Amino acid sequence: MKIDKSAIQAAVQTAHSDFTPDQGGKNASYIPYLASVDPALFGISVVTADGEVFEAGNSDFEFALESISKVFSMARAMDEVGLPQFHDKVGADPTGEPFNSVIAVALHDDKPLSPLVNAGAMATVSLIPAGNAEDRWQKILATQSAFAGRDIRLSDAVNDSEQSTNFHNRAIAWLLYSGGTMYSDPMEACDVYTRQCSTLVTAVDLATMGATIAARGTNPVTKQAAITHPDIIPPMLAEMTMEGLYTASGDWAYRVGLPGKSGVGGGILAVMPGVLAIAAFSPPLDAAGNSVRGRKAVAQIASALKLNLY
Ligand code: DON
Repeated sequence: MKIDKSAIQAAVQTAHSDFTPDQGGKNASYIPYLASVDPALFGISVVTADGEVFEAGNSDFEFALESISKVFSMARAMDEVGLPQFHDKVGADPTGEPFNSVIAVALHDDKPLSPLVNAGAMATVSLIPAGNAEDRWQKILATQSAFAGRDIRLSDAVNDSEQSTNFHNRAIAWLLYSGGTMYSDPMEACDVYTRQCSTLVTAVDLATMGATIAARGTNPVTKQAAITHPDIIPPMLAEMTMEGLYTASGDWAYRVGLPGKSGVGGGILAVMPGVLAIAAFSPPLDAAGNSVRGRKAVAQIASALKLNLY
């Protein structure tokens, strides 16, 4: 499927001007750093599976990757441990509960169900083969960087803010451990998971990371492979469809029809396999934890370009 380049730039520009006025929502506040980011920031980018980049607004502002990091750690774990083991140990079903739900874990024999909620993301980190926390962290950082096509770095400010307030995630990590579904030291997994959420990306980075998924694991800008097994891409997209926008995932699939992923830093990503990825960033969130402007902008661009998997 080929899309006219001028249509992409027009859709990006129109979505940016349509949703620049206040759309409601509130910055995440349970992580103090995120509460302090300017809520008016709004950036959009589209990167195609052949490496063309489109952008509008604050597309070069660096924001915290947060939950979108779960997609790339999932990729690393699937790539290294293989799909059957990954599916068996983490799962692929929506929880129907908020992203940090303890109840979802307790209701399912301490199984996380999905790698895209906090419990499953920590189990995913713990599954990545590594001798210690630092090795595991370096693998995750290298994977984020390969998908983005540049050296992604940790924000000490975001990480300090999260590490000093993430008591809830530590409780979930211990709960998984007690149920036998955590595969490393639970505090080590929680620490590395928290770091992976605290890296900084721009909307262009995020769209490039998505375009690498759209291009079956080869970064279309650098032409470097970010994974070794392209057959992990369809299950990755399935996981994103099931749980990428948490309790709003079904609604998103119904209305937009593209696998997506959001983060409480205000980033959101949608992927049209083989074609392109759309990323947006704006900090104010809805009740499910998804960027309000981001959701609207990505949905409008997908509709304008007639992109819907179904
Ligand atoms: O673990 C947390 O709660 C955050 N570091 C990430 C959560 C997140 O981004 C959920 N997304 N909408």
